[in-house]
Order: sequence, then structure tokens, then C-alpha cells
Amino acid sequence: LNNGLALTPQMGWNSWNFFACSISEDLIKETADALVSTGLADLGYVYVNIDDCWSTATRNLKGQLVPDPKTFPSGIKALSDYVHGKGLKLGIYGDAGAFTCQVRPGSLFHETGDAQLFADWGVDYLKYDNCFNLGIDPKKRYPPMRDALNATGRTIFYSICEWGVEDPALWARGVGNSWRTTDDINDTWASMTTIADINDKWASHAGPGGWNDPDMLEVGNGGMTYQEYRAHFSIWALMKAPLLIGCDVRNMTAETLEILSNKEVISVNQGEFLSLLLPFIPSSLLPCLQPSQAFLCLLTRCPGRKVWAGPLSGNRLVVAFWNRCSKDETITARWEVLGLESSTHVSIRDLWQHKEVKDNAVASFGAKVDSHDCHVYIFTPKTVAHSES
Ligand code: GLA
Repeated sequence: LNNGLALTPQMGWNSWNFFACSISEDLIKETADALVSTGLADLGYVYVNIDDCWSTATRNLKGQLVPDPKTFPSGIKALSDYVHGKGLKLGIYGDAGAFTCQVRPGSLFHETGDAQLFADWGVDYLKYDNCFNLGIDPKKRYPPMRDALNATGRTIFYSICEWGVEDPALWARGVGNSWRTTDDINDTWASMTTIADINDKWASHAGPGGWNDPDMLEVGNGGMTYQEYRAHFSIWALMKAPLLIGCDVRNMTAETLEILSNKEVISVNQGEFLSLLLPFIPSSLLPCLQPSQAFLCLLTRCPGRKVWAGPLSGNRLVVAFWNRCSKDETITARWEVLGLESSTHVSIRDLWQHKEVKDNAVASFGAKVDSHDCHVYIFTPKTVAHSES
């Protein structure tokens, strides 16, 4: 959506994955405080997004949505003032149907009034869900809220949460700033890997202004190992997915904070968008390339050992070795698979070890990767040699 937002994937926090309906204005404020005190805000995590359950079960006599007086007694305007005072942005949640998924009032046919209310409250981001949609085509239900938000004159990030049902990647680029490509994530290895693979196939539809959304991060919620969370974060970053933290940032372990704070991996996610590099990629790779997103999934012969790669600025490549097998494996990428001449000399930096691991690799590079872990490297070719450019 051409509203000046989402030039890179959005970063922030959302209440749903950890707190579900147990939310309050105190939680939102404490979360904003924690994003600042942990340094996460400075790394770019600026959206503080309230999910479902913030409103009462019915509209007021004026037909307006009402913040639950028990949990949000000061109202949303006071909260947005607080969050803005910290240099952050406030997100809210609504539904393109009769009710939200937790059966609060939906915004279908109330788009104009609700958008104005959100704008008046100083809201910066709307996640717009798909429950109780009365079987109406999403292509009819999502644009009216885009237009209503636009008409308020306030710039509001528009996150389409349609769960990938009607292939939103194919139509949502002019409607929203991101669109869900999959059903809800849960805090398991099986869910995370399944979602990564589903999202991957829509890569060519993403770009500045509108991103594929494989759902929010589960890093730090306890259901996966350190290696699995590191892989989750790495692959979301490479896929140019929104990086929306889904844990309790007031009580994170050092490991969780370390993963979420990896500046080098964040830079891959927030870095320059390189669709323009596509012509330099050999056509032999195109079948597994994700063109406009510029990140691709190259499957090695063993299906569990995956190499994901894509171009970065300055002829560099980002290369991820993701071991999805249940034992440690050596993963090797040959230059020809990456579109490099095999004689090219490449220096290789490991973005989790934060150091150069190879100064002069030629023809191929391999590394032992723990079960379910993911290494992320930046390959800097010293001699520029793309095989078919
Ligand atoms: C849907 C969405 C989730 C969350 C819940 C809230 O399931 O996909 O991300 O917003 O609704 O009820």
C-alpha cells in the first residue's frame, strides 16, 4: 500500500502470542518501558500492538467501540500518549467481520467511524482480522478500511490478517502494508517450520510498501529450544517478515534478548530491498528464486538440510544453513548453487558468532550445524563473478 509506510518490514511487539486476552493498559505501558530499557526500541522494535480483547462486548449508544473499563480504564488516547512519550507507536486490533475472533464487535460496515476513532485516539497501526466475516469476499471487506483509514488524514499502518485464505499475496499489495500468508503460528517447531515453508512460496509478491506476514514471533515463549528460536528468528529475518516480538519482554531470559537483539540479522531484514539485483542472478536459479523479495530457498539434496540465500547490496549474499534434521549435519553450499563462479574468492562472516569465519573460501563452504539450528552468513565475493550475468 502506497501510504509511505512499511518501506521495510514492520518491527515491534504484539500482545497475542503470550498474553492472549489477559491484557491491560498497565501491561502495554510496562511493555513500552521494557522495549526502551532493554534496548529493543533502539534496534527498531517501535510498534507496541494491542491485539484482541481490548474492547467491551458491545458498542456504546453512539455506536462506537469502547475500551474495556476494567482493563483499559484510562482509554486508548491516554495509552497512545504514554507510548508516544517513549518514542514508540501504538497499534490496535479490529476485525473485517461482524465480530473479532474473541467475539468483540467487528468493524464490518462501521469502517468510517471506527477508523476515525482510531485516528482520534492517536493509533499508528491497525491489525485487521478476518473472523465472523459472513462469507463476504475479503477483496470487498479489506479495501473499505484502507479507504477509511486514509480518509482520517492520519498515517496508520494497515496490517491485513486474513490468514492466507484467499491468497492475499495476490491482491493485497494495493490494500495493506502486510498480509498474513498462513494460519496462526503456535510455539512449536512443527508450526514454525510449516509456516516458513508456506510463506516462502509468496516471496515474489513482497516488497517495500507491502510484506508477506507469516505471523508473529514465538521467540522466548518456551516451546522451542534456543537453536529452534534462533532458526525462527533467522528465517523470519531473511524472508523479510514483520519482526513482531510475541513474548513477555518484561521478563526475558538473556538468551531471548540475545536472539531478538541480533543487529546483524536485523540488518538483513531491514536492509536495502534488492529486487533490482535479480537480473544478475543466473537463470538456472530462477525456479527456486523468490524474485522481487530476493530471498530464495535452495533445497540441498537432503530435504532436511536447507540453504536459503539471497542477494544483499554490494554484490554480497546472505546465506542461511538451516538443519531441519533431528541430528547434527554438515551443510555445504557450492558456489554454482549460489550463482557464483567457482573460482570466486569469498570472505564469510557468521552473523550469530559475530565474526569472520573464512577469509578466502573458493568453490564451496560447509559447516556443521546442530540439529534444528540455523547459521546465517554474509558472503562477500572478492572478485565479482556471477556465472551468467
Ligand atoms: C486470530 C489472529 C491472531 C489473533 C487472534 C485474536 O486468530 O490470526 O493473530 O489476533 O485472532 O483473537
